Amino acid sequence: MKHFIDLKDIKIKDLKRIILDAKKRKKMRNKLNTLEVDKGSPLKGKLLIQMFEKSSLRTRLSFYLAIKQLGGGTITLRSNELHLGQGGESIADTAKILSTYGDGFMLRTDSDEKVNNFKKYLTIPIINGLSPSSHPTQVLSDIFTVEEIKKKSISKLNICWIGDSNNVLNSLITASVKFSFRLKIGCPKKFQPKKSITAWAKKNNKKIHIYDNPKKAAIDADVIFSDKVISINDKVNKIKKKIAFKDFKINKKLFNFAKKDCIFLHCLPRGDEVSDEVFLGNKSHVWQQASNRVHVQKSILMYCFGKLR
Ligand code: CP
Ligand code: NVA
Repeated sequence: MKHFIDLKDIKIKDLKRIILDAKKRKKMRNKLNTLEVDKGSPLKGKLLIQMFEKSSLRTRLSFYLAIKQLGGGTITLRSNELHLGQGGESIADTAKILSTYGDGFMLRTDSDEKVNNFKKYLTIPIINGLSPSSHPTQVLSDIFTVEEIKKKSISKLNICWIGDSNNVLNSLITASVKFSFRLKIGCPKKFQPKKSITAWAKKNNKKIHIYDNPKKAAIDADVIFSDKVISINDKVNKIKKKIAFKDFKINKKLFNFAKKDCIFLHCLPRGDEVSDEVFLGNKSHVWQQASNRVHVQKSILMYCFGKLR
């Protein structure tokens, strides 16, 4: 069974196949309306169950459109409306029922342990739609967007991350190993990536460059990525954390250190880590980035359902 939990666990050959499939599918959508089904209706009759324990706009909608455009259907559950969320039913029994009624399960949760427990008991594929440790569907889609805009393999580009060391960055670090691209990170010393993730990269012969100076991180960048300083349910002193990041704001000046044609990407939602001038300016491709998630989710579903050719 093919789960999609962490990019670490997925072969690079499969990740590239997913991107290639998404490219083909995107091209085929040119003349189709939002809910029209792709030729051949490849996931006809399949049900994707989605469960959110945290807020979501893009992930929820992109998976909805993805499964619909492949000919299947979806239902969205809120865990607090289930017995599970009230402590009235185990993960094991819930997983058994999900596997009986559905064909795939997408989970957004505050607990990596929960993702792994579901994986243990499900007999259908599970997709991680964001957990504390990673956001793999986002980052795979971002690689698709980078290659689409830059028209070259990401392995030939300098990627820069300015911001918090969070789930999205963890997946970007993992992707830098899998896709062999150069990654420079700019963040305050106190908010550097966890040792476990940098040690994993090192073990895989990857040097990640980390600077506590955003300008150094931005030098020669082809792409600058960022994300909110405060993630959903981040249990930190928000005021202190924002102060720690005050010199890490992404503005026009920072782009002077990057390559002339450097682009800006952000998974959204945004906070005040980026100026409006950059976010809404001509270097920003954030809306294209968000819309591409539909195409990549489709190919992730094809992979999980064993239909990717
Ligand atoms: N980028 C992203 O995952 O957005 P949502 O939290 O709205 O799903
Ligand atoms: N790092 C953010 C990503 C949101 C899509 C969070 O976890 O809230």
